[in-house]
Amino acid sequence: EQAIEGDFRCPIVCVLGHVDTGKTKCLDNLRRTNVQDGEAGGITQHIGATNMPLDCIEKRTSFVKKVAFGDKLDIQIPGLLIIDTPGHESFSNLRSRGSSLCDVAILVVDIMHGLENQTRESIKLLKKKRCPFVVALNKIDRIYEWKSSPHQDVRKTIDNQKEGTKNQFKKLYDNVYTQMAVEELNIKLFWELTTEEAGEWIPIVPTSAITGDGMGNLIAQVIDSAQNIVGKKITYNPGVKCTVMEVKAIEGLGKSIDAILVNGCLQNGDQMVLAGQQGPFATHIRQIYTPPANKDLRVKNAWVKHDRVKGATGVKVVGRGDDIEKSLAGMPMYIARKDDEVEYFKGELEEEIGDA
Ligand code: GTP
Ligand code: MG
Ligand code: NA
Repeated sequence: EQAIEGDFRCPIVCVLGHVDTGKTKCLDNLRRTNVQDGEAGGITQHIGATNMPLDCIEKRTSFVKKVAFGDKLDIQIPGLLIIDTPGHESFSNLRSRGSSLCDVAILVVDIMHGLENQTRESIKLLKKKRCPFVVALNKIDRIYEWKSSPHQDVRKTIDNQKEGTKNQFKKLYDNVYTQMAVEELNIKLFWELTTEEAGEWIPIVPTSAITGDGMGNLIAQVIDSAQNIVGKKITYNPGVKCTVMEVKAIEGLGKSIDAILVNGCLQNGDQMVLAGQQGPFATHIRQIYTPPANKDLRVKNAWVKHDRVKGATGVKVVGRGDDIEKSLAGMPMYIARKDDEVEYFKGELEEEIGDA
């Protein structure tokens, strides 16, 4: 198998931000799910992964199509793989794991609170990676006398607010603008951005995950940022790049690994080389599953069985036997398709374990 020009994988979109800014709620709005309601204490404690195919994205952006893409909507990517991360300060390892895989990010900021500690931590991660991102300025519905209108361009919705509401929005936006400038970031409301400014300036999209205001615009901006890196970073490549996110036992399935397959493909029967508590080990894939489209991998689902999956995809892998439960989260999963590769990948993992 060879890399083919014009064969793009799904870009990986990481959602980052301070605790309770509405990251999961935004995804719930886009997916039409209720993951956040089921979280203990309303706090995300694991990395989530959602495969969002193009048809769903097209539906969500239909009413902003003209604004966002002009006359031609020429989306070249097969969809998005969206990674939800926890915002609580104690999970900085998960934020860094999530952001290390992402191609594009959504930084969620609560408009009422402005920049907070983990917002700044996330900005540092994104800067270090030179990762393009979009800011969702969330919870605009909390502005005094906000009138929601989720099925239109959010710019128009803001224009149609009462004078006092508009002024409060402007005041809160200006505050975030200044705070971002302190972080040496230039932000602009997305409708004020010219084509020349894309890449230099960071687009801000006012959103409400509760009412849905701005959610179409948000996903359109994410697609736009992803399209800008098409060809450079997201050409599908057959070399397997896969990271273990979580190891858990699932009733009825047995011991399993949740992983993000960035590139390449996984097949039933493949020999995995994994990092374990007692060092690297090899074991075989018994069965590959994915969550249904628009469902989070970390939630109990009617997982779909596959013989083979291509990246980028969030996957659940069940092994032959229970060896798989020894694997360490955050470490790569290698696939050995030739005999001598097992020892080679074990060597690679020894180094990774040493570095961690
Ligand atoms: P962590 O993952 O724990 O960091 O939080 P989060 O960023 O995923 O936030 P979450 O989705 O858990 O939302 C936190 C709280 O804010 C919940 O009570 C949501 O209902 C509420 N919330 C989220 N988005 C909005 C919004 O746009 N408007 C309003 N009014 N409330 C919101
Ligand atoms: Mg969350
Ligand atoms: Na939360």
